[in-house]
Amino acid sequence: MGDRAITEQAWDAFEQSVIYYQGHPIGTIAARDPDIAALNYDQCFIRDFVPSALLFLMKNRSKIVRNFLEETLKLQPKTGQLDCLKPSRGLMPASFKAGTIYGQEYLKADFGDHAIGRVAPADSCLWWIILLRAYVISTQDVELAHRADFQEGIRLILELCMVTRFDMYPMVLVPDGASMIDRRMGLYGHPLDIQSLFYGALRSSLELLVPNQENKQIIQAIHGRLRPLLRQLRENYWLDPDRLNVIYRFQVEEYGEEALNQFNIYSDSIPFYKLAKWLPEAGGYLAGNLGPSQLDTRFFAIGNLMAIIFSLADEYQSHRILNVIELRWGDLVGQMPMKLCYPALEDTDWKIVTGADPKNRPWSYHNGGNWPVLLWMLTAAARKMNRAELAHHAIAIAERRLLQDNWPEYYDGPDGRLIGKEARKLQTWTIAGYLLAKELIANPNHLRLITFDAEV
Ligand code: GLC
Repeated sequence: MGDRAITEQAWDAFEQSVIYYQGHPIGTIAARDPDIAALNYDQCFIRDFVPSALLFLMKNRSKIVRNFLEETLKLQPKTGQLDCLKPSRGLMPASFKAGTIYGQEYLKADFGDHAIGRVAPADSCLWWIILLRAYVISTQDVELAHRADFQEGIRLILELCMVTRFDMYPMVLVPDGASMIDRRMGLYGHPLDIQSLFYGALRSSLELLVPNQENKQIIQAIHGRLRPLLRQLRENYWLDPDRLNVIYRFQVEEYGEEALNQFNIYSDSIPFYKLAKWLPEAGGYLAGNLGPSQLDTRFFAIGNLMAIIFSLADEYQSHRILNVIELRWGDLVGQMPMKLCYPALEDTDWKIVTGADPKNRPWSYHNGGNWPVLLWMLTAAARKMNRAELAHHAIAIAERRLLQDNWPEYYDGPDGRLIGKEARKLQTWTIAGYLLAKELIANPNHLRLITFDAEV
């Protein structure tokens, strides 16, 4: 089937995912698989809506994005409370759904309190700010972002991330499972996926916050945070052959400010021989996590791709990340773009780190599965760095399967050949991710909705 026909069918399926509230479109449903129990896949997830929203903006259908931003803002708790069972001030829900009480429609939010694993999402509020910026760039509707309730919403998110915390680093500290990977996967601490989004949200906020007395302190705090965050990520998360050599020979147990091995990483904790063989000479990428005696060397796609898109990785690093993807194509893209995380945790690691989670068995779901939604991020990153051929190649691979397989949520296996064991069909962000990738290639000018210039 030609790609025109695939695109048309994708649009049909996508249109049916729109959900309405009080007669207005406000989001898209996570999945419409008629054959598996919906669980919470009948909700609109903030993170899942992002590719849908970008697509709507590109098609001049910004009203739905505006409705989404306004309604989700109303769900954000605005007051501090000491009730441990209530979501914190500033938090944005993972997902929401329309319900009715006495014939009245209302929105019911899930802050992770109903989700499997019961973890509050840290990524939702960051995506929300990033999306608000995209909306403003696309529509020029600055008034919406400047409205008092929106300014307050941004401030509360930033306060949640920046003010009171048990940490001394510029990164943001989060629990395990607080992002797209919403089950235990060894991501407690400072996972890259969240740090990249945090960086994007900080830069977006600088554009969105009105420089007035009320915002003065928080703007100062952002300026104070951006440089150290950038330095920490570009230097201490960075892995390339040179850096591997340095880490391999690290001194340990160093005390004080001059320590080179600031996090007291023990060489033995890193799978050096495998990694030195796998990492191409021309490659490099940002590590998955960094903390006390912890350097997680798994490759996480969202963090690395968004780092390119947001110019968090510098130009040299961005090319090196794309080099890894190109030179390790079979591992990272395989039969479906692309791996959420590579390699999979296996055997004892899988048992200990995931809690023996059967959904996350090796090479499945979050643990080494392939997620077609990532196609849009790969396309955006490759196009931004003028390496569109990588995007074309990835899109062609995705087109061989997606429609025929009815838009699965994820694929399994070391090369992503199998439809995910528990994957939903008609998964909206799979459909939207594909359409968005096509749109970005057809009109690269749209990249401005999501990218940042190099300078802070
Ligand atoms: C699963 C995924 C999560 C996604 C949700 C809806 O819970 O882990 O990332 O947002 O499904 O698609």
